[in-house]
Amino acid sequence: MEIKAIAADIAGVKADAIIVSHFEGRQKPAGLLAAADKAMGGAIASLIKQGEIKGKLNEITLLHSLGKLPASRIAVLGLGKEEKLSADKVRGAVAEAGRYLRQKGAASIATPPLGAGTNGINEENAAQAAAEGARLGLYTFRRYITEKENHRNEVAQLLIAGTDKKKLERGIARGQIMAEAAIWARDLGNEPANYMTPTRMAAAARALAKSSGLGIEVLDKEAMAKAGMGGLLGVAQGSQQPPKFIILSYQGKAAGGVDLALVGKGITFDSGGISIKPSEAMDEMKWDMAGGAAVMAAVSAIARLKAKINVTAIVPATENMPGGTAMKPGDIIKAMNGKTIEVLNTDAEGRLILADALSYAVKLGARAIIDVATLTGSCRATLGKLVSGAFSNDQKLADKVSAAGNETGELVWQFPMYEEYRELIKSDIADIKNSGNRYAGAITAAKFLEEFVAKKPWVHLDIAGTSDIDKERGYLVKGATGVPARLLVNLALAMAK
Ligand code: BES
Ligand code: MN
Ligand code: ZN
Repeated sequence: MEIKAIAADIAGVKADAIIVSHFEGRQKPAGLLAAADKAMGGAIASLIKQGEIKGKLNEITLLHSLGKLPASRIAVLGLGKEEKLSADKVRGAVAEAGRYLRQKGAASIATPPLGAGTNGINEENAAQAAAEGARLGLYTFRRYITEKENHRNEVAQLLIAGTDKKKLERGIARGQIMAEAAIWARDLGNEPANYMTPTRMAAAARALAKSSGLGIEVLDKEAMAKAGMGGLLGVAQGSQQPPKFIILSYQGKAAGGVDLALVGKGITFDSGGISIKPSEAMDEMKWDMAGGAAVMAAVSAIARLKAKINVTAIVPATENMPGGTAMKPGDIIKAMNGKTIEVLNTDAEGRLILADALSYAVKLGARAIIDVATLTGSCRATLGKLVSGAFSNDQKLADKVSAAGNETGELVWQFPMYEEYRELIKSDIADIKNSGNRYAGAITAAKFLEEFVAKKPWVHLDIAGTSDIDKERGYLVKGATGVPARLLVNLALAMAK
C-alpha cells in the first residue's frame, strides 16, 4: 500500500472512498464533515438527526455519493467522545475503517489527519496515526495460501489530505517506520515453527541488519560453549536444530558503549521439553520467539529514525524439544555469569536462555536493560490479552517504559518484586532453581531473571498474553501482534532526548 500526503480538502479528493469523522454527542456535522454534508445535500446531517450516525468510537456509516462528490463513497467514522480521543484511538479507528472499506472493494482511500487539533494531537501526529493504523490494521499473512479466491483485494493507496504537506509527510514517514517494525515482528511470529527455525531467525536478522544499517554478530554452538552459555545450550540440546545467539547493534551517537540493551526470548517452538506440554493449543508455542522478533524489529526502527542513542538487541534462539539428548528435570546447568541452576521443569526454558542473554548484556556494559519474553502462562492468566506484565528493579526506568507504552497503546502493568518472592526459587543443591511453586508464577520468573542483571537498571516485560490475538481488535489482526516493538522504539526516542 502506497501512502501519500496531499494538500487538499477531503471533500474534493477523488478516491474509491473518503473517510470523514464525527464525535459522539455532536448534534450536527462540523468541520470537514460539514463540507462533505453540504456537497451531499444535508444527507449526513439528517442521519445524525435520525440517530443512525451516533459518532461512537469505530462506528462506520457508508454513504454513496452518486456523483455529488469526486469520491464514490463516504465513510463516516465515529471517533467517540471528543475529550477522550487519543492518537492510539485514531490508529484503531482508521484500521477498522480501512478493513471495512477493503471488504467493500475500495482500492484507494483518502482520509484527513483525523483527530488533528484535538487533545494536543497535531497534524503531524495525526498523519502518523492514520498511516500507522492503516498499515497495521490492513496487515495480512497470506504467504501460505495458494488458492487465488482466498486472496481478497488489497487497498493499493491511502491518501492523507490536509493543509501542511510537509508535516503530513513527516508524520507518514514515522508512522510507516513504526508500523513496519511491528509488521516485521508479526511476520516472524506468524511463520510456522517448521519454517522459522533459529537458523532462519538469524538469516532474517542478517537481512534486517543489511537493510537498516545495523551491526550483526551471530554466535554458533561452539562460540556459546566458549562463552559458557549453559542455559541456552541446555535448552537447545534436545533439538535437532542448531541454536543461534543473535546480536544486532546500532550506534546512534559518537560516544560508544551500550545505552540500552533489548533482550528478547527466541524460542522458535516450545514443546515443553521432557516436561512436555499438553497437546491442546500447543501450536501457539510457535509464537514463543515473539519477544526476540520484537526487539530486533525495534532496533531496526530506532536506526531508521536515526535516534541519538546506542541500542543493542540480543536474542538467544533455539527450539525447546524433548529429544533423546534433552535436559532432564533435576539436571543442573551453569549460566554465563557462573550461577548454577537446578532445572526442575524443562518447560521453564525461557528464563534459562534469558539468563545467558542478560548476562551477556551485563558483560557488554549496557547502562539499561529491557527484556521481552512470552514467559509465563501465569502472566497471561492474570492480565489477559490486553496488557503486558512489567517487572523491574528500577522505578524510573519502569515508569519510562510504561509511559512509552501508553502512547503506543502497548499497555503494561507492573507487578511487585518483593524480596520474599526470592525464597520460592531457592534450591537446596544449586544457586537457584528454575521454577517456584504454583503461585505467583510470573513474579517468581521475574525474580529468577533478576539474578542475571547484576543490579543494572532493568525492566522485564512478560508478553505471554499480548504476543498474539485470536480476533481482530483495532489495528491488531488475528495472529502475532508485534507487541511491544513500537513501545521500545518510542522508549528509545524518549531516552535519546
Ligand atoms: N512459553 C511458555 C509461556 C507461555 C504460556 C507463553 C502460554 C504463551 C502462552 C513458557 O516457556 C512456559 O512454558 N512457562 C511455564 C513455566 C512453568 C513451567 C514454571 C508456564 O507458564 O506454565
Ligand atoms: Mn515453556
Ligand atoms: Zn516458552
